[in-house]
Amino acid sequence: MRRERRLPIEQLAPVLLELPPLPPPTGPTPDAIPVLDWSAIFGNTRPVEIEIGFGKGLFLLTASQACPDINFLGIEILRKYQLFTATRLVKRGIGNVRLVRADARDFLRQRVGSESVQAIHIYFPDPWWKKRHWKRRLFSGDFPAQCERVLRPGGRLLVVTDVEEYHRLIQGLLAECPLLRPMPPPEPGQPQHDLDYLTNFERKFRKEGRPIYRLAYERRTAETGRKALGS
Ligand SMILES: C[S@@+](CC[C@H](N)C(=O)[O-])C[C@H]1O[C@@H](n2cnc3c(N)ncnc32)[C@H](O)[C@@H]1O
Repeated sequence: MRRERRLPIEQLAPVLLELPPLPPPTGPTPDAIPVLDWSAIFGNTRPVEIEIGFGKGLFLLTASQACPDINFLGIEILRKYQLFTATRLVKRGIGNVRLVRADARDFLRQRVGSESVQAIHIYFPDPWWKKRHWKRRLFSGDFPAQCERVLRPGGRLLVVTDVEEYHRLIQGLLAECPLLRPMPPPEPGQPQHDLDYLTNFERKFRKEGRPIYRLAYERRTAETGRKALGS
């Protein structure tokens, strides 16, 4: 990881969302655990967008400055990336981002309220190539249904991957979510400088000339979902 001297934890505290450990996934149902109160976390009632697996945090850094009226929550399973990105945010005085270290699959299910999120961003999720590791994939189990549940009507799910097979699998899983309507994904422009990319992985893969697969969905209301299904 490129060295950006990490600030002491006390200085990072304002952007770190430190929560008691989640109960095991087989434990209490989501209703038994209080979901997070976004206004208490961010100190305002602005819309909330989530990025899952933010890595070195380029998207959060760019998006939070471009959209100061949006609150961003980053969920990352690795503590080192949480602290690395927190340092970048604090050094730039960014106040509309919080970072939590968690497995996003459990976190969405157990801590995020239904229809409480304006967008979910998932950029270059780990493909976990080996079959015996597939259970570690983000898009597994009830994760697609949880994305559908937490998005508010009109909210968006944006997914980008460089892996064609994983792209097809994700597309298939999301096709089973009746409230998610596929839409044309945003296409990036020509980068003007080295930080003008969606994420670090996107920069690496575009520079290598690899194909990149983009997916976008809009969350329907339950009523429009039923109409679309003809029921
Ligand atoms: C391939 S990297 C992409 C990082 C960044 N999005 C980018 O495009 O540069 C995938 C990231 O997802 C994180 N990750 C993997 N599984 C996760 C999970 N279940 N919950 C949260 N983060 C996860 C990894 O630690 C890693 O930082």
